[in-house]
Amino acid sequence: METKILSGKRVSKSILTFLKEKTENKSIKKRTILYCDSPDESNKAYINQIIRSAKKIDFIVDIVDAENIEKDIKEFNDDPEISGVMFMHPFRNFDEEMGLKLLYPKKDIEGRTENNLGKLFTGKQLFAPPTAEAVMEIIKYYNIKISGKRVVILGRSTTVGKPLAMMMLKKGVDATVTVCHSRTKDLDKITKEADVLISAIGSPLFVKKEMIKENVIIIDVGFNYLNGKYVGDVDYENIFNKASAITPVPGGVGSVTTAILLRHIYESFELGD
Ligand SMILES: NC(=O)c1ccc[n+]([C@@H]2O[C@H](COP(=O)([O-])OP(=O)(O)OC[C@H]3O[C@@H](n4cnc5c(N)ncnc54)[C@H](OP(=O)(O)O)[C@@H]3O)[C@@H](O)[C@H]2O)c1
Repeated sequence: METKILSGKRVSKSILTFLKEKTENKSIKKRTILYCDSPDESNKAYINQIIRSAKKIDFIVDIVDAENIEKDIKEFNDDPEISGVMFMHPFRNFDEEMGLKLLYPKKDIEGRTENNLGKLFTGKQLFAPPTAEAVMEIIKYYNIKISGKRVVILGRSTTVGKPLAMMMLKKGVDATVTVCHSRTKDLDKITKEADVLISAIGSPLFVKKEMIKENVIIIDVGFNYLNGKYVGDVDYENIFNKASAITPVPGGVGSVTTAILLRHIYESFELGD
C-alpha cells in the first residue's frame, strides 16, 4: 500500500478559500492584536507568517507592544473594533497569566484562557488551541476514521497534547486515547499499539521506525531546527514506507495552525459585540 502524504498546505488552502468566500462582500475591518513583549527570532517568523496569511484574505492584524498589561487588555476587551488578541511568546517583562485572566473568552482566539479550556473539557468548545484543532482538521479533511481507534499522543502541553486528548475523546470522535510524557515508561511499547500516533514533544527525529506498527497514521506536530533545516519529531524518511499516512514537516500541521487562527478571527467577528 502506498503511503499517503497528509499535506497541511492543502487543508490550509481550503480553509483560506472558505474564509475568503465568507468575507469577500463583508467588511471585516475589525482588528486582531498580536500583543508582544520582546519577540525573538522564531517569534518574528511566526508573526510574519500570521500577517502574510491574514493579508491574503484582507484581515487586519496589528502588532502592539506590551506596556501595561492590565490597562491594555481592558482596552482590547472594550474596543468593538478588536475581534481577537494573541499573546506572542516569550513574555519577559509581563505577567502573561494575569493577561489571560483578564482577556474576554470571545477575544481569546488562541483558546488559552481557563474559560475556553474549560469549555473544551465539557464539550462546549468556543475557541480551542489552534494547533490541537489543526490536527483534528487534518483528520477531518482526509476523512480519517477515528472511532474506536487507539490514538497515542506524545506530549501533554496545554497548547497541544491535553486539548487534543479532549477533542479525541469527544462523543462522535470516540478515540481511545493514551497521552504520554517525559516520565512515561516503556514508551515504545505504547507507540507500537497506536493506530494513530501524534507527536508533539519538540525532539527532532525522536520517533523511529522500530517504535511504530505497520500502517500507522502519523501526525507530526513537532517543529524543530536541526542541522540547518526544520524537521519534525518523527524520523520521516525512515518511517515513511511503514506508515499508511503521514504529515510532512514543514508543510504539515504548522500550515494549518495559522489558517485555524484566521478562522477564529472570523468566528469572533461573527459572534459580534
Ligand atoms: N506546528 C505547529 O503549529 C506547532 C504549534 C505548537 C507547537 N509546535 C511544536 O510542537 C512541539 C511541542 O510543542 P509544545 O509547545 O507542546 O512543547 P512543550 O510545552 O515543551 O511540551 C512538550 C511535551 O512533550 C513531552 N516530552 C518531552 N520529551 C519527551 C520524551 N522524550 N518522551 C515523551 N514525552 C516527551 C513533555 O513531557 P513533560 O510534560 O513530562 O515535560 C511535554 O509534555 C514543538 O516541537 C513545537 O515547536 C508546533
